[in-house]
Amino acid sequence: MGTQRHFRVWRGDDENGDLVDFDVEVNEGEVVLDIIHRLQATQAPDLAVRWNCKAGKCGSCSAEINGMPKLMCMTRMNTFADDETVTVTPLRTFPVIRDLVTDVSFNYRKAQQMPAFDPPEGVAPGEYRMQQVDVERSQEFRKCIECFLCQNTCHVVRDHEENKTAFSGPRMFIRAAELDMHPLDARDDRKDIARDDQGIGYCNITKCCTEVCPEGIKITDNAIIPMKERVVDRRYDPIFWLGRKIFRR
Ligand code: SF4
Ligand code: F3S
Ligand code: FES
Repeated sequence: MGTQRHFRVWRGDDENGDLVDFDVEVNEGEVVLDIIHRLQATQAPDLAVRWNCKAGKCGSCSAEINGMPKLMCMTRMNTFADDETVTVTPLRTFPVIRDLVTDVSFNYRKAQQMPAFDPPEGVAPGEYRMQQVDVERSQEFRKCIECFLCQNTCHVVRDHEENKTAFSGPRMFIRAAELDMHPLDARDDRKDIARDDQGIGYCNITKCCTEVCPEGIKITDNAIIPMKERVVDRRYDPIFWLGRKIFRR
C-alpha cells in the first residue's frame, strides 16, 4: 500500500487554464509519469499527456516539475520530500494544446530550415569513410532525444516570443556544430547559416540548456562555444576576409 501525496497539475488550453489539486497514491519506485497515469485511471480520465517509451528515450514526456524542465518518466518520486507538493505544468515556451501537451512544432520548423547533410559528389551512402576520431567527436550530439527541454529553457525564447523567428535554439546549434565538424559534409556555409539564419549570436552562454539536458550533452561547451569561435575566426580570418573582398567585387 502506497502513501497519499499532494499534486497540482495544470489543466486547460492556450486560452484558459488553472492548477488543479489532487491527492494521489504513490508507491515505492514510482516516477512522476506513473502518478499522472494513476490520475488518468482514477480521477481525471481526460487529462492529456504525451508519452511513449517511459525509459527516457523518446523525448515525449517533457514538462515542468516544480518549475524545473524535466522528463516525467525519469523523475523519481523519492527525489521529493514526503510532504512536498509536486506541481506539474506544461513546457512554458510552446503553446499548450491541452493540459500537459504542448505544440512543439517550432522545433520542427527550425529543423526544416537547416540544410541537411550534404555528402561529397559521387559518394553513395554506405561508401562514407571517416576517421574514428571524427566519428567520436560528434557522437555526443547524436544522443539527442529531441525532448526540447533545452529549447524550452533558453531565456532567449522562453519569455520572448519575438525572438522565435531569428533564433533556432540550442538543439539546432548542436546539429549545426555536428555538421560543421563532419569531414564529409560538402557545405562550407554552416557557420554563415549559424550566424545569419539561426541566430547563434543571441546566445550569451548562460548554459541553462546544458543543465537541463537529460542526455548530459555538453551543449554549450562542446557545440555552441566552439561554433561561436569558428564563426568569429572565419569572420576575422584575413585570408577569408580577402577572399570575400575579391570575389564579391
Ligand atoms: Fe533534449 Fe538534450 Fe536534445 Fe536538447 S540537446 S533536445 S535537452 S536531448
Ligand atoms: Fe540559451 Fe544555452 Fe545559449 S540556454 S543562451 S542556448 S547557452
Ligand atoms: Fe519517453 Fe519519457 S516517455 S522520454
